[in-house]
Amino acid sequence: LTNNLNKGREPTLSTDVDDPSHPLYHHRRIVTDFDYGEILGEGSYSTVLIGRDKRTGKQYAIKRLDKAHIVKNNKVKYVMIERDALSRMNHPGIVKLYWTYKDNRSLYFVLDLAKNGELYTYIRRLAPFDLDTTKFYAAEILLSIEHIHSRGVIHRDIKPENILLDDNLHIKVTDFGSAKIINENENATTGDGENSSTAARSFVGTAEYVSPELLRSDAVSKEADLWAFGCVIFQMLSGKSPFKAATDYLIFQKIKSLDYVMPDGFSPEAKDIVQRLLTSDPEKRFGSAATGGISAIKEHPFFEGVDWENIFTSTAPPLR
Ligand code: ADE
Repeated sequence: LTNNLNKGREPTLSTDVDDPSHPLYHHRRIVTDFDYGEILGEGSYSTVLIGRDKRTGKQYAIKRLDKAHIVKNNKVKYVMIERDALSRMNHPGIVKLYWTYKDNRSLYFVLDLAKNGELYTYIRRLAPFDLDTTKFYAAEILLSIEHIHSRGVIHRDIKPENILLDDNLHIKVTDFGSAKIINENENATTGDGENSSTAARSFVGTAEYVSPELLRSDAVSKEADLWAFGCVIFQMLSGKSPFKAATDYLIFQKIKSLDYVMPDGFSPEAKDIVQRLLTSDPEKRFGSAATGGISAIKEHPFFEGVDWENIFTSTAPPLR
């Protein structure tokens, strides 16, 4: 199993904590370093629990992945990518990966604990958000996406369920289980190209937030995260995602034909930014290299008054 889990790993990546030159190598952790508590969430291959460091008392979210299940379902590659992508991240808006360790049954990822759970829950409860609240969360999400891309990663599953809120109601983007690590010189990547143990996966991500280029089987690039970002802004302002439908098939049809209705209640600036982000052609989509990159999005009138430098240390708007 150890060999399986190391197979296909990029030996040149310095993100590998098994490499003695990696900063995490020198303070490795083991299962018994933590007390385990409440279950925070359960996925098909993993469970997230509250963990408490016995030495410091500090609480973490510990993601426990079942090795047998992962190997049986050919998900080893995704687990490796999740860990490698996470370990490249160093940003207040993204869950930090502190340590990884394993026992006979499981792999463990020790992550930042985001005590207030998913943005999704707050949208369900409180949407439509007012303009200041939407602006605040959209700005934090945009800075986080900018960081992810700057570290050579496409998240590919940006959605309110994967945007967690910490004790101060600032965001922490999580779940890099669908991420793609891109070659710094490469801007686009066709599906899972080269080493595809992924043939069984019809698409990566979540139907409602999937970009049109992915449905066309075109190259998927960083701009796919900006499409999803547009969907999330729409959802905060209206309470529902723009391409909602009864089945995944119908959702895909709507996305392909750009079939969504801009709510009357959206301000002109909100309408404009959403419309620019929900552009079918990723090269023309707001935030693409040709349209000025993420800096151009930051300068859009929708974000007027946002203090980009200090937003993560500012007081979050009251969510109620
Ligand atoms: N659920 C999944 N990941 C989590 C995290 N990092 N913090 C809180 N709840 C979570």
